[in-house]
Amino acid sequence: MQRVLILGAGGHAQVVADILMRASDAGASVEPLGYLDDNPHLTDQRFLGLPVLGRMVDLGRVAHDALVIAIGDNATRRKLFASLQAQGEHFAVARHPSAIIAPDAQIGPGVMICAGVIINSGCIIGANAILNTGCTIDHHNRIGDHTHIAPGVHLGGEVQIGEGGFVGIGAIVMPQRRVGSWSVVGAGAVVHRDIPADVVAVGVPARVIEPIQSAS
Ligand SMILES: CC(C)(COP(=O)(O)OP(=O)(O)OC[C@H]1O[C@@H](n2cnc3c(N)ncnc32)[C@H](O)[C@@H]1OP(=O)(O)O)[C@@H](O)C(=O)NCCC(=O)NCCS
Repeated sequence: MQRVLILGAGGHAQVVADILMRASDAGASVEPLGYLDDNPHLTDQRFLGLPVLGRMVDLGRVAHDALVIAIGDNATRRKLFASLQAQGEHFAVARHPSAIIAPDAQIGPGVMICAGVIINSGCIIGANAILNTGCTIDHHNRIGDHTHIAPGVHLGGEVQIGEGGFVGIGAIVMPQRRVGSWSVVGAGAVVHRDIPADVVAVGVPARVIEPIQSAS
């Protein structure tokens, strides 16, 4: 049985908790222990029946096998992942039992796979990525580390999303297109040409509106 601690206790973390509990109910060998969160007001509270066990500094005193970093911001999640990995921590995959995942898909450590996600054949999902509610990742996608694919996004076949990329709610990326590392695709956009790294792109068709400070 893999004992999993959730880092963060906000709304996103509660979705992670729900996923882990649903996975356990469905027979996965996983036991969500509770949350750690640096907000002192949350200590000793309970969310979905699981306790906030302390702050991040308390990590060493709570026996666990693996972590899920439940923080939505990609750059913050990457930073925490790198430092915890360097400390020898392991990361669980939080996989909702309703997700449909091709047997040959490769899923990295710490990935969150929400309810209703579909991952088709040949995909590689990088470490610490978030595949949010009901997104579809078609065949042979390459989804980079620390990315966030928001609810209801559809990615065509052979799409590549670079490290730290964010694809906003309901967006579409046409087959074989690439979104560069740390770029942001706005909600509802349709990406029909490649998007370079470190930009914000919005609209139908998606157009770059501004550069962003690189998190890389
Ligand atoms: C793209 C995005 C990140 C830009 O945020 P922002 O930097 O705060 O940008 P602003 O709201 O200042 O908007 C800048 C311009 O882009 C336009 N814009 C912003 N988002 C847009 C979108 N999704 N589609 C079309 N145009 C958009 C604004 O109308 C504005 O245009 P204007 O300058 O002509 O008035 C944000 O609007 C967005 O779409 N986020 C996605 C959120 C999401 O999916 N969350 C899921 C969480 S699970």
